[in-house]
Amino acid sequence: MNQELEVLLSREKIALRVAELADDISRDYREQPPLLICVLKGAVIFMSDLMRLLKIPVEIDFMAVSSYGSATASSGVVRILKDLEQSIQGRDVLIVEDIVDTGLTLNYLRENLASRQPRSLKVVTLLDKPSRRRVSFNPDYCGFAIPDRFVVGYGLDFNEQYRYLPDICVLHNEANSG
Ligand code: PRP
Repeated sequence: MNQELEVLLSREKIALRVAELADDISRDYREQPPLLICVLKGAVIFMSDLMRLLKIPVEIDFMAVSSYGSATASSGVVRILKDLEQSIQGRDVLIVEDIVDTGLTLNYLRENLASRQPRSLKVVTLLDKPSRRRVSFNPDYCGFAIPDRFVVGYGLDFNEQYRYLPDICVLHNEANSG
């Protein structure tokens, strides 16, 4: 299949915005350093960069979730593949995501984690595609709102490929043209 990559957000632009997000989060959480929860796999690069720019002593944990269905369309059914290693009761929790698309994954995750009685629960996402929402969901922190294009790189994949790319790129191919 013919595939072509077009840079949407350069590594320089990403770095500047991640630093701004880190400043905002450091300020908002200066009295209450949060537990960062990285949602695998897409958010791994974003969280790695973000946490090193924070000026507060965070802890980290990981979750893996998966929606049933095809690689590019969320089905709305979310499975927990890997859960947290610790209780979050009474903790200030910040979920770290790479992208909010339909909102179904984060909607489910936020409800699931809220039921564990954290002291506070917020979401930071690097990317947001507001035009794709199927449920109402607003991230507390957002790097970039982007148009409805299929993007890869900086942790985001297509069939597990392209996560390593340092820039965020639009993937053009026969299956995702337009
Ligand atoms: C992506 C992303 C979110 C979800 C967003 O994960 O990391 O978890 O999709 O989509 P939604 O708003 O429509 O629910 P993906 O399932 O691609 O897994 P990955 O992070 O391992 O690539």
